[in-house]
Amino acid sequence: MTDSPTAEAPTTTAGQASRPYSPGLEGVIAGETTLSYVDGANGRLLYRGYRIGDLVERGTYPAVANLLWTGDWDPAHRLPTAPVPSAVLTVLRAMPSDAKPMDALRTAVSAWGATQELPWPPTVEQARALTAFSPSALAAFARLRSGKEPIDPDPSLDLIAGYLYQLTGERAEEGTVRALDAYFIVGAEHGFNASTFTARVITSTRSDIASAVVGAIGTMKGPLHGGAPTEVVDQLAQVGSAEHAEEWIRETLARGERLMGFGHRVYRAYDPRAAALRKVAEGMEHKPDWLKLATEVEDVALRVLAEKHPDRPLRTNVEYYAAPVLMGVGLSPDLFPATFSLARHAGWTAHALEQAANNRLIRPDVNYVGSEERDLPR
Ligand code: COA
Repeated sequence: MTDSPTAEAPTTTAGQASRPYSPGLEGVIAGETTLSYVDGANGRLLYRGYRIGDLVERGTYPAVANLLWTGDWDPAHRLPTAPVPSAVLTVLRAMPSDAKPMDALRTAVSAWGATQELPWPPTVEQARALTAFSPSALAAFARLRSGKEPIDPDPSLDLIAGYLYQLTGERAEEGTVRALDAYFIVGAEHGFNASTFTARVITSTRSDIASAVVGAIGTMKGPLHGGAPTEVVDQLAQVGSAEHAEEWIRETLARGERLMGFGHRVYRAYDPRAAALRKVAEGMEHKPDWLKLATEVEDVALRVLAEKHPDRPLRTNVEYYAAPVLMGVGLSPDLFPATFSLARHAGWTAHALEQAANNRLIRPDVNYVGSEERDLPR
C-alpha cells in the first residue's frame, strides 16, 4: 500500500470501456428456460410449448401450475387452497386495516416462510404448498381489514373457487370461476420479467423459495410491473366517455405520463394474453359497465400512440383487459395487484425450481461511472 497512490493509479474506468451495457438489461440474455416462450415480435406466448389461448380454453390454473412445475399436462390436476398457519394469522391481524394488500401478501409469505422447513434446493411440494397458501392469506387479510373473520379453506373447491369463497363467504358461479381461472392462467408465467428475475436471483444464492417469492412480490408491487390494472380502472374513470377519450389521451401524453395497459418491454405485437382476456371479458355474465368504454378508448389510444411513436409499436398489454375481468368477478381494484401476484406464484416457483436445478449465482457486473480515485479531503 502506498501513501499517495493517485499519481500512478490506472484510470477507474480502464478495462470496462468495451463492455456491452444495455440499460434495463433490455435485450440481454440472462438465462435459459423451458417454462415459457414469449415471442414478442409475433405476439405468441407458449407455456412448455402449449399456446396460451389453448391453455385458457381447456385448462385450469392448478393444471397449468402443475405443467410449469413438472412438465406434465394433467388437465384433472387439482390444488385446493391451504390453511393459514396461526402465526401468520397473528401477523395479519396486527396489520393496519389500510395496509396495501401487496404489503399484506408480502408480509404473509414472509411469515409463512418462518413457519416452514424449506431446505434448499426448492421442491415441487414446496412450490405447491406456497401457491396453495397465498390465496388463503390474501383472502384472510381482505376480510380482516373490513372487520370480518377469515374463512377456512374448503378442500372440495379447487384453488380459484376456493379463493373466491374465502374472500366472500359464498360459492361463486361457474362463469365467474372460469373467468378468474382464465386470468390466473394468463398471469401464471412470463419469462424473465422483473419479478421472476428477482425470484431467480434470490434462489441463485441458495436462499429459500419463500424468500424468492417475497422478493418477487416486492418487485411486482411497482406500478410499471403489476400495478397497471388498478390504474386502468382509474384511467377509464377519468376518461369518462368515448367522446372525451382523444382529448384526455393527448393531454395525458403531453404531460409526459403513460397510458396504463399499453406498451411492453418484449411485445411489439398485440399481447396474446390481452387478446385471451378480452375474449373472456366480452363473454362474461357480469361485465363491468365500462367494458364497452374500454374497447372504444383502446382504439383511440392505439391510434394516438402509433402517431406519437411511429418507430416503437405500443400495443395493448395484458393489464388492460385484466381490469374488466377482475372487476367482473367482483374484486375491488385495490386487490388487483395482489391477485396478479397469486397467479404469478406458479411461474415464480417454477423458475425457482429451474434455477436451482442448474444453479449458478447470478451476479452481473456494473460499469463504474463515478469519480476518479482521489484523496479524502484533509
Ligand atoms: N404510454 C405512453 N408512452 C409509452 C408507454 C405508455 N404506456 N409505454 C412506453 N411509452 C413510450 C415511452 O415514453 C418511450 O418514449 P420516448 O422514447 O419518447 O421516451 C417509448 O415509448 C419507449 O418506452 P420505454 O420506457 O423504453 O419502454 P419500456 O420497455 O421500458 O417500458 C413498460 C415497458 C411496460 C414499462 C411501459 O410500456 C409502460 O410504462 N407501460 C405502462 C404501464 C403498464 O401498462 N404496465 C404493465 C406492463 S404488462
